[in-house]
Amino acid sequence: MDSQYWKEKWETGDTLFHLDRPHEQLVRHFPHVPNGKVMVPLCGKSNDLLWLRAQGHEVVGIELSSVACEAFFRENKISCERVTHGSVVKYESDGITLWCGNYFEVPASAWRGCTSVYDRAALIALPEDLRRKYAHHMIGMWREQAPQGSPIFLITVEYASETMGPPFSVSEDEIRTLYGAAFEIQKLNEQREQSLSQRPPKFTGIEVIERVHRLTRK
Ligand SMILES: C[S@@+](CC[C@H](N)C(=O)[O-])C[C@H]1O[C@@H](n2cnc3c(N)ncnc32)[C@H](O)[C@@H]1O
Repeated sequence: MDSQYWKEKWETGDTLFHLDRPHEQLVRHFPHVPNGKVMVPLCGKSNDLLWLRAQGHEVVGIELSSVACEAFFRENKISCERVTHGSVVKYESDGITLWCGNYFEVPASAWRGCTSVYDRAALIALPEDLRRKYAHHMIGMWREQAPQGSPIFLITVEYASETMGPPFSVSEDEIRTLYGAAFEIQKLNEQREQSLSQRPPKFTGIEVIERVHRLTRK
């Protein structure tokens, strides 16, 4: 599952994960977060970015695909400035900044001032070896940049097969293994099926549990 895989998904319009509305768990849980700067890793062209901005947060996203980044600003009629930083292009608009490039290569300055992270379909987009690398990178960035107590909201799915992703199945044990040393972990919600109406056909008939966790930096 390399960069090319995701770039092709965007180029061919195979983006079933994209919701035409903000995620219901974001709307439910995020109002309790004081206004600040929210990091949205692997953000696609998510409507969650707009919702967060509308609540008064400053929003920073990281996304590999320039097709997704361009579509986000074009479809929402938001004008932006593009600045190139090596392999990464920074799209800047009023209150929303997207860093277009590989999550692992985006400069640490992207994380500066962030007070929360919103992860929907980011960790679970990655296979196991990359999930370890992704979480390790986040913990490093968070330790350097975020005040103690800063929350990460993490939405995951779990199902019986381990070979069907993306989205990949992530258990509560794995969340503890990835984040438990650096974060207090609190489960905010667990539900079967309901919000997963846009699942790829390969998931038909498979029970999926969606969980929301709040991770708070120790
Ligand atoms: C399953 S989608 C979720 C998008 C978004 N979070 C949402 O909820 O609609 C995963 C996204 O991660 C992006 N992505 C995958 N690997 C990446 C990487 N290494 N760096 C930055 N973005 C990446 C893909 O292009 C894709 O848009």
